[in-house]
Amino acid sequence: MDRAVRHEALEIIAGQAGKNPAALMHVAQEMVETRPQRAVALAIEILAMTPPPSIAAAAAALLKDMVPGWHFVIVRDDARNSAYDRALRRAVTPQSRVLDIGSGTGLLAMMAARAGAGEVFTCEQNAAVAAAARRVLEANGFADRIRLIGKHSSELDLDRDLGGPVDVLVSEIVSNNLIGEGCLPVMEEAARWLKPDGQMIPRAGTVRVALVWSDTAEREAMGMVEGFDLSAFNMLAAAARRYRVGDPKIDIRSSSADLMHFDFRSGGPFRAHEARAAVVADGRPANGVIQWIRLNIDDSILYENRPAPGTESCWAALFYPLPEILERRAGETVHILGTHDRVSLFIRVAAAGETGA
Ligand SMILES: C[S@@+](CC[C@H](N)C(=O)[O-])C[C@H]1O[C@@H](n2cnc3c(N)ncnc32)[C@H](O)[C@@H]1O
Repeated sequence: MDRAVRHEALEIIAGQAGKNPAALMHVAQEMVETRPQRAVALAIEILAMTPPPSIAAAAAALLKDMVPGWHFVIVRDDARNSAYDRALRRAVTPQSRVLDIGSGTGLLAMMAARAGAGEVFTCEQNAAVAAAARRVLEANGFADRIRLIGKHSSELDLDRDLGGPVDVLVSEIVSNNLIGEGCLPVMEEAARWLKPDGQMIPRAGTVRVALVWSDTAEREAMGMVEGFDLSAFNMLAAAARRYRVGDPKIDIRSSSADLMHFDFRSGGPFRAHEARAAVVADGRPANGVIQWIRLNIDDSILYENRPAPGTESCWAALFYPLPEILERRAGETVHILGTHDRVSLFIRVAAAGETGA
């Protein structure tokens, strides 16, 4: 059946279901794949009806399935939170108009309001997250001081939604590889909504790399099993594996280097490109490249999650396995190549003599 016709039919059923939570729940479940935001709106409507426990559980499960688990992790990263709070306190004045892109819990918007901003707007693309954030804002007494707009930033109308350019633009839409949550196109557009002397928090971001040894990766790679060589199957292995930055098994075996730097405040354009970083081997074998991020929260506040025993970060380090163990003498330079298409990042070590970027 044609998609539009199917949705029209589902909306008719939803209309007829009226206040019947079980019937509405069926409609919501039918919409999850193709109209997720509408499914979320229905689930919220159902919960407000105080339905029987089984329907309430189904509606709550639908909402939870729409929300990534990392929301519960990022707000526990005190170094991240404090870096943003300090930067916002420095940037914001009572005259400031602030836009927070990606409300999540509403934490950064509340920080901006607490710092004394005259006006705070926050936008959130995920309807389930936006609904929960509204409750957080109410619970903290910010419902009338922060305007939450349930939209993706690309759908914002500068004049209608924000009343014109803003003084401070804050966001935390950064993934483990910096760019995977789509921050580059968002920053390109959002930089134009800032007043000429406006501040962007974070101002810039960098992808950092080093050679590494991982026993875990060595164990997980396919090799000889029962006398058979299964190594050809490694072509199906994940391109990158996540590690906690404090994992003691991450053994960095070279100097660190910047692979890619993005000046968000410049507004780009951030075109797909290949970049090269030179690291100096420490003489021990390496079986991968480890990648992490550094954020210039403002001109003087830095956040970096370089892996080291005992460190913590809400962002993971990513391990890119090498096709074979790399043996280099201590002091020898190794070139790490990275290619991005504005959302995905691919990392490898340059072959001997390869010129690359
Ligand atoms: C990593 S969370 C950060 C939440 C909160 N700002 C914080 O720092 O704790 C990013 C949130 O932004 C939302 N988001 C990402 N890109 C967005 C965009 N371009 N417009 C609106 N919301 C966005 C996601 O749905 C998610 O809820």
